[in-house]
Amino acid sequence: MALKHVQKTYDELGRKDPLYAVLSFKDARKNRWDPDEFFARGQKEISSALDRLTALNLQVENDRALDFGCGVGRLTQALCETFTEVVGIDISASMIEAANRYNRHGDRCRYRVNATDDLAQLDDEAFDFVYSNIALQHTPPETSTRYIAEFFRILRPGGIAMFQLPSGPRHDPGSFGARIYSLKRGPLRRLWKRLRGKPPVEIHYVNQSLVEEIIRLSGGRLVEARQDGSVRRSRVSMFYTAVRE
Ligand SMILES: C[S@@+](CC[C@H](N)C(=O)[O-])C[C@H]1O[C@@H](n2cnc3c(N)ncnc32)[C@H](O)[C@@H]1O
Repeated sequence: MALKHVQKTYDELGRKDPLYAVLSFKDARKNRWDPDEFFARGQKEISSALDRLTALNLQVENDRALDFGCGVGRLTQALCETFTEVVGIDISASMIEAANRYNRHGDRCRYRVNATDDLAQLDDEAFDFVYSNIALQHTPPETSTRYIAEFFRILRPGGIAMFQLPSGPRHDPGSFGARIYSLKRGPLRRLWKRLRGKPPVEIHYVNQSLVEEIIRLSGGRLVEARQDGSVRRSRVSMFYTAVRE
């Protein structure tokens, strides 16, 4: 049920203004993103991510990569420059349609819609690298944490996951705090946004200690949890790098 809202919102955004839905810069509204500039940002991001792996003394095999929450493929296309085969997964069919239109790498790049709360359509130990930025944050914690566990199932031993997710106060699954959180961040936030005429995009957080527990319990070894720019109220955007043991 919770994912239905996310899917509906991004399907609509993907139909209207897909590049702006991914990077919402004021001047780029109404389909005014220059695609070259947009995709160049993806190349820059992936190049710094790979540099970061080198700085951490981590070596990634360049066979297969997954871009989770790929949108129009801004990062997927960039990953194709290093990896032999790249899969981009997104909950929104309209985003995947746009991603296919922008694909410059033929069959080496495949886009798929995934609207379930797991990654069952992907095999165990099928990837060397999993990357995800500004995507997990749009999914409620009970599902984003499930996806994180899935990253370590689909990674080969020695494979690397790098993903972004904001951290905030800890709400343990099933607790009273978690129930209040779901209400505030789900229906109430969507209503508030609609009343202001904005798309009902949800932004979620999961406390860093919970993310680290999930990584460990899923067979991963955390290498780095790095603050990634913005801090808003008690929330901070984090980027995690972990190796599948
Ligand atoms: C802000 S865009 C970022 C796209 C891409 N990661 C990038 O940085 O260019 C967020 C994307 O995450 C996707 N998304 C949100 N929830 C998702 C989920 N549960 N599973 C897969 N994709 C999801 C949305 O459809 C949207 O395309």
